[in-house]
Amino acid sequence: MAGLKIENLYKSFDINGTKVNALTNINLSVEDGSFVTVIGKSGCGKTTLLRIICGLEEQTEGSVSFIYKEGIPSEMHSKKKVGIVFQEPRLMPWLTVKENMAFPLIKNKDRIEVYDTVNKYLNMLGLEKFKEAYPSQISGGMAQRVSLGRTLCYNPEIILMDEPLGALDAFNRRKLQREFINIFLENKKTIIFVTHDVDEAVYLGQKIVVMDKGFIIKEQSVDMDYYRNSSCSKFLQIRDSMLKEFSI
Ligand SMILES: Nc1ncnc2c1ncn2[C@@H]1O[C@H](COP(=O)(O)OP(=O)(O)OP(=O)(O)O)[C@@H](O)[C@H]1O
Ligand SMILES: [Mg+2]
Repeated sequence: MAGLKIENLYKSFDINGTKVNALTNINLSVEDGSFVTVIGKSGCGKTTLLRIICGLEEQTEGSVSFIYKEGIPSEMHSKKKVGIVFQEPRLMPWLTVKENMAFPLIKNKDRIEVYDTVNKYLNMLGLEKFKEAYPSQISGGMAQRVSLGRTLCYNPEIILMDEPLGALDAFNRRKLQREFINIFLENKKTIIFVTHDVDEAVYLGQKIVVMDKGFIIKEQSVDMDYYRNSSCSKFLQIRDSMLKEFSI
């Protein structure tokens, strides 16, 4: 298990000679086994932050460190630290749903274990009937669920999710929000979950990180047990305070 410490992180891009500051002085601690949601308007740097955490992008300045609980020896530190669910599914079109999900387990020779793991997530994600279908034969929301299943099969210590439910209808969305909570409670994963949806951020996060124009402008802890009632006064109060950050 691992947490994260992000210190003085900056990222700028050069777009045709113009410097764009995607991230400015980001400092963030993510505790081992905690569920953090990140919200902010389009273009505020959410994806860039996740890409730097998982090593797909290099920061301009600053550091990202993995934090282990005291007493866990370094040889126990997993190499499978971070898995990411992208904003778009990125499936392999020549593999079936089942094969896409099993892909991270390609080196696992225990076929029963692979079968059980893939089946567990096929069921959880409502994909059992489509396990033999190819990505071109399923809907966008289903493809996104396959992508999520692939990361869950990989079983990393830290799961980064970049608006994983953006393409889903409201019913599947609420169902999967509950599943994320189940996964979190069962496995005590560290989860960083990006969303545009303030309700979703409050429903899921133990801590909500609010970003704006490349800055973290607020961190809000949510001291409520799961599963949360989204119409109770405490929930609504936190949601309203988040919306105020965006002057809505
Ligand atoms: N590879 C890149 N090259 C140049 N600029 C980039 C690149 N990736 C991101 N940017 C810029 O960095 C800024 C932040 O982009 P990012 O994708 O992180 O935003 P976001 O918060 O994830 O937005 P959205 O909610 O729309 O997904 C934007 O101004 C974007 O143009
Ligand atoms: Mg993004």
